[in-house]
Amino acid sequence: MTDAAWWRSGVIYQIAPRSFCDGNGDGVGDLVGILQRLDHLEWLGVEGVWLCPISPTPNRDFGYDISDFCDVEPELGTMAELDELISALHARDMRLLLDFVPNHTADVHPWFQASRSSRTDPRRDWYVWCDAAANGGPPNNWLGRFGGSAWEWDEKTGQYYYHAFLKEQPDLNWRNPEVREAMYDVMRFWLRRGVDGFRVDAAAVLAEDDLLRDDPPNPEANERTPPPQRQKRVYSDDRPETLGYMEEMRAVVDEFPDRLLLAEVDVDSGGPGRFYGFGTPRFHLPLNYGLIDSAWDADSVGGAIDDYLAAVSPHGWPDWVIGSHDKTRIASRVGQARARLAAMLLFTLPGTAIFYAGDEIGMPDVDVPEDRARDPFGILVPGCALGRDPHRVPMRWSPTANAGFTSGEPWLPVGDVPSGGTVAEQITDPDSMMSLYRRLIAFRRSALRSSDRFRARRHEAGVLLFQREGDGGRYLSALNLSGERRLVDIADAASVRVATDRSREGDRLYGRIELRADEGLVMELVTD
Ligand code: GLC
Repeated sequence: MTDAAWWRSGVIYQIAPRSFCDGNGDGVGDLVGILQRLDHLEWLGVEGVWLCPISPTPNRDFGYDISDFCDVEPELGTMAELDELISALHARDMRLLLDFVPNHTADVHPWFQASRSSRTDPRRDWYVWCDAAANGGPPNNWLGRFGGSAWEWDEKTGQYYYHAFLKEQPDLNWRNPEVREAMYDVMRFWLRRGVDGFRVDAAAVLAEDDLLRDDPPNPEANERTPPPQRQKRVYSDDRPETLGYMEEMRAVVDEFPDRLLLAEVDVDSGGPGRFYGFGTPRFHLPLNYGLIDSAWDADSVGGAIDDYLAAVSPHGWPDWVIGSHDKTRIASRVGQARARLAAMLLFTLPGTAIFYAGDEIGMPDVDVPEDRARDPFGILVPGCALGRDPHRVPMRWSPTANAGFTSGEPWLPVGDVPSGGTVAEQITDPDSMMSLYRRLIAFRRSALRSSDRFRARRHEAGVLLFQREGDGGRYLSALNLSGERRLVDIADAASVRVATDRSREGDRLYGRIELRADEGLVMELVTD
C-alpha cells in the first residue's frame, strides 16, 4: 500500500459496529459480524472503512464515552479480532480508520477517577476544573450539547468540572501538555497496530476560552430551538488554540506512512479552510455535511457545492458525506427516488465520498418507540426530535427474522422492512439501489480521476448539471431535482454510462434530452 493519495478518489464506508452485524447472538453488532460481511464491502467496491468507537465504554453515549483508549470493548470483540479485521481488510486492499475521541473520556475512566479524587491529585489538571461563581452557581453560562449547564458540581472536591456533552463525558484539559502527549500516544498505539488513520471526533471542541467568557445568545434561536442550541458557542467551542492541537495530531499521524485524518468540525462557520491548515497541515479531510444539510432543489444543491468548493483551501481536498450515525438518513430526508440522485452526486463530484452503512440499500430512519429509546440526546432534550436512534437501527441483511442482523433480541428495533429492502434481495436485483451504488463506484474508479477538472454548467429548469474532465474522458452528470419531467439541452453527443434507471445505460443521446422526474444520468461526452 504505497499510494499516499488512495483516499482522494476513494470511497469510505462508515460502520457503527453495534448496528452492523451481530456475530454472537447477543443483539449487539460486533467485530466478528463485520468480519463476516467483508464480501459485502468488496462487492460494493469501497476502499476504506471507518468504524465508530470500539473501545471499552459504559455506553452512556454508545462508545463516545471511553473508559480505556487502548483496548476493545468486550461487547464488540477482542483485540485479536480487531487485528484480524485489520489484516483481512488489508488483504482485500481496503483501509481501516478508527474513531478517535480526544475531547473527553467516560467519567469512569481511571484518569477522571484520579482527577476527581482530590484537588492535589497529579491528574487533577487533566480535566477542566473551576471554582463556583460568587453566587455558588456554575462559573459561566456555557451549555452542554445534551442539555443543561456544561458544568457539573463535584461535592467531594468542591469545584465544577466542564463537559461539552454528557456529564458522564468530562472534557479533557487539552491545554495541559501531559494530556496531549497521552492522547498522541493513544494515536500511536493504534497506528502501530496497523490502522490507516482516524476520524477525529468533535475535533474543534478541544479548548475553551481561558477567560471563561459567557457565550452570547444565538440570534437565530426562537422558542422552537432546542435549549442547548440557544447560545452561540463562541467561547466554548472552536478556539484558536485548538488549531495548534490539530497540527500536533497531524504530525503524529505523519510519523507513519500513508495515514489519514478525517475530522468532525463545524464547516458552517467560517468554512473548512482553516481545518486543512496553512503551511503546517492539520486534517486531510474536514468532514463536509453540505449535501445532507442542503435543501434539495437544483439551486440549493448547486449553491452548496459551489460554496463549499470555493472554500476548500488550495492545499486541501474536498469530501462529501451523505449519511452518518448522527444525521437523518438520506432516504428519509429526500425520499427513495432522490436518494438515488444523492448517490450519483456523491460518487461523481470531485472529492472523497463517504456514506453510512445502510445508505446503499436506501434504509430510512425508523421510529423508535419511547420505551426503547437509547440515545441520551433524544432522552435528555425531549420534544425536540434530536434523538439519533432512528438512524442507528440495525442493518438489514436478509428478509428473515430481525432482517438477518442477529439471532437474538436486537438492541434497537429493526422496524418494518419493506420487500426488497435488504442486502440479500438487492444484490440479485440489477435495478436496486445497491446495484446502482456498485455501478457508480465502479464507474468512478474506472473513469474519473482525482486530477479531473470540475466544471459547473448553468442549471436548467431545476436540473443540476456539472462535468468532470480529464485524461479519463469528459463526463456530464445531469440530475433532475425539479420533481417533473424536463428537457435539457446538452449540446453534445453523449453516451449514458450510469443511470438511476438502468434501462437507459448505453443510450446514445444528442442535443435535447429528456429526463423524467427524479432521474439522473452520468454521460460520457463524445465528439462526433
Ligand atoms: C460526535 C459524535 C456523536 C457523539 C459526540 C460526543 O458528535 O459523532 O455521536 O455523541 O461526538 O462524543
